[in-house]
Amino acid sequence: MDKGELVLILDFGSQYTHLITRRIRSLSIFSLCISGTSSLDTIAALNPRVVILSGGPHSVHTSEAPAFPDEFLPWASSKGVYVLGICYGLHLLVQKLGGDVRVGDKQEYGKMEILVEGNSGIFGNKKVGDRQVVWMSHGDEAAVLPDGFEVVAKSEQGVVASIEDPKRRLFGLQYHPEVTHSTEGMETLRYFLFDICGVTAGWSMENVLDQELKVIKETVGPEDHVICALSGGVDSTVAATLVHRAIGDRLHCIFVDNGLLRYKERERVMETFTKDMHLPVTCVNATEQFLSKLKGVVDPEMKRKIIGKEFICVFDDFAHKLEQELGKKPAYLVQGTLYPDVIESCPPPGTGRTHSHTIKSHHNVGGLPKDMKLKLIEPLKLLFKDEVRQLGRILNVPEPFVKRHPFPGPGLAVRVLGDVTEGNALDTLRQVDEIFIQSIKDAGLYDLIWQAFAVFLPVRSVGVQGDQRTHSHVVAIRAVTSQDGMTADWYYFEHKFLDEVSRKICNSVRGVNRVVQDITSKPPSTIEWE
Ligand code: XMP
Repeated sequence: MDKGELVLILDFGSQYTHLITRRIRSLSIFSLCISGTSSLDTIAALNPRVVILSGGPHSVHTSEAPAFPDEFLPWASSKGVYVLGICYGLHLLVQKLGGDVRVGDKQEYGKMEILVEGNSGIFGNKKVGDRQVVWMSHGDEAAVLPDGFEVVAKSEQGVVASIEDPKRRLFGLQYHPEVTHSTEGMETLRYFLFDICGVTAGWSMENVLDQELKVIKETVGPEDHVICALSGGVDSTVAATLVHRAIGDRLHCIFVDNGLLRYKERERVMETFTKDMHLPVTCVNATEQFLSKLKGVVDPEMKRKIIGKEFICVFDDFAHKLEQELGKKPAYLVQGTLYPDVIESCPPPGTGRTHSHTIKSHHNVGGLPKDMKLKLIEPLKLLFKDEVRQLGRILNVPEPFVKRHPFPGPGLAVRVLGDVTEGNALDTLRQVDEIFIQSIKDAGLYDLIWQAFAVFLPVRSVGVQGDQRTHSHVVAIRAVTSQDGMTADWYYFEHKFLDEVSRKICNSVRGVNRVVQDITSKPPSTIEWE
């Protein structure tokens, strides 16, 4: 990636900021997003060709309104960097350059038509369309423009929709071009970036692969060893495959069977890792170790803590054994951190949050032992999930693996309600889950669903099987659609499908006489039950 082709987003807290990054990457342009109040040194070090100032929930008039550093605009001007302000970003531009932003008489929220006024650079002199539907969301408006600026589009109500000072390479859009409701939004961004700013398209997963291989080879010394814990999910698998390609068998992976895996999961993933992908993996069967610690535990957070702690013990043990074998400490640890995790840990200014991990904190299965002193390699930290999948395909990670539904770190422990060691709960759940997932695959629905699984309920109900009354367990099935797991809708199966699944489960899994479907979205529910 040539950094001189970077489009840098300064984030002022809009809910759409990440969408801007994604849209720009979809044009094969390299784009990154950093805090809107980053120092000029940080911005300059990234050497962007274009800087986009995002929208945000603030008004430029409030005392805590976040802003770019004062030296930013003179710097951009001296370096020939293009600047585009979107919504709040436009207000910042106007205010910093001596114009006036006021609370508008007409607040505009939602879809709106704008009229392009002619001689517009950003709309290519109406090439992008002279009437467009756009997505507005603002209370303030640019009332007096700084010297040199012109209005190039107005809303139906006569409010400024776009301004520019092409000589100084400064542009502003009052609406959100990144949102799909803005019908010509993508085309406007495309025209702006390619035709006005002259950015060249160079962001592709092939490039990312070359770049990451180079970085890993440069970072890890020729005698250094690296370890990686594989979960069986897409992220850790792709990260490990990438590192393996760079340094070969100086990578040492561990896969832990904690007794909470799905039906034949250990055999299945180990076969893929070793036979299909030739990854150097040690499989540790720690079932007894985990389940003995979980005996009698019913509180879900306790379960997570215990699992996290045991995982660290197993990992620690692995690292020490490896150290003895190699005669030296492994130096690095590979982690499958993704870009949303990185962005989420640096929330935008003005939100009052120092980090936004609150919702997800319970998902992190422990940290790593402090005394291990491993340096981190996070080769996916600039990528979104679908980009990781793309990269996986280039690295020949088998397709079914690339498309796998997410699976929680604490595994079936959050799908068996209550004590996981009681009776035959885990085995029963494994069988039910396998029937459900296989039926989904057979019906060709797997890729339409974001995540599907079964849940074991610690309640019994009365049934009649054969000529006998039974008093057996209830299981629930859940399938959801989602973008990122933060919100979700339940998936609408056909009745015939549900009927067949329920019959199959009751007829072939001993101890189950009732199947219910979870029909709640998130919110108010979570995806997992515990
Ligand atoms: P929830 O249940 O919070 O789940 O709506 C959202 C997504 O996160 C997964 N999940 C977890 N992943 N450790 C993980 O690694 C956990 O403790 C955990 N809990 C939930 C869940 O499967 C879903 O994809």
